[in-house]
Amino acid sequence: MLVQRRAPDVRWLADAVSAADTIVLATPYAAALEFAAAHADALAGKVVIDATNPIGPGLTLSVGHTTSGAEEIQRRAPGARVVKGFNTYGWENFADANYPGGTPAMFIAGDDPAARQIAGDLAQAIGFRPMPAGELKMARYLEPLAMLWIQIGRVQGKGAGFTWAVLER
Ligand SMILES: NC(=O)c1ccc[n+]([C@@H]2O[C@H](COP(=O)([O-])OP(=O)(O)OC[C@H]3O[C@@H](n4cnc5c(N)ncnc54)[C@H](OP(=O)(O)O)[C@@H]3O)[C@@H](O)[C@H]2O)c1
Repeated sequence: MLVQRRAPDVRWLADAVSAADTIVLATPYAAALEFAAAHADALAGKVVIDATNPIGPGLTLSVGHTTSGAEEIQRRAPGARVVKGFNTYGWENFADANYPGGTPAMFIAGDDPAARQIAGDLAQAIGFRPMPAGELKMARYLEPLAMLWIQIGRVQGKGAGFTWAVLER
């Protein structure tokens, strides 16, 4: 079991949480859930960007429709300012977001507008166009979008060199 591999309350982790204003969750989903529960008090008021996806067996989502991984993390750390983002692409696009055809979109959902702004600024700083997607419950749609990316890019073999973009007129 992933969550048994490492104690979530090790000292360095508590120190890191207390020193940070903004925290990005980029562990397996089960570990992120456990982390949120174990550090709920310390996370109060902090911006928590949830980049995880609650992936189950066979490219399924372990939660959805009536909740999302992000909302479950929020439920375990109610005082945190949880934002969903950075979850809909493979890591290759975070390393290099440069596309000749336009600027990739970064969909961001969260209940706290200032926290959404911080996540958007981070996305913009690494080359994405922040695309506010509404309240945290919209993570119910952003997590499936990650699955679509994984299906096309990794399962069907297109590769990691594509992103979602928003075209306007
Ligand atoms: N990989 C991607 O391209 C990508 C893109 C977008 C979103 N995501 C999401 O981001 C999350 C991480 O994905 P990943 O591919 O980077 O996974 P991963 O390689 O399995 O894990 C990432 C990190 O989580 C740590 N970790 C694993 N189990 C842990 C535990 N029980 N407690 C604390 N830390 C633990 C690992 O630490 P150690 O190195 O010390 O083992 C590793 O640094 C997932 O939820 C995934 O859906 C991934």
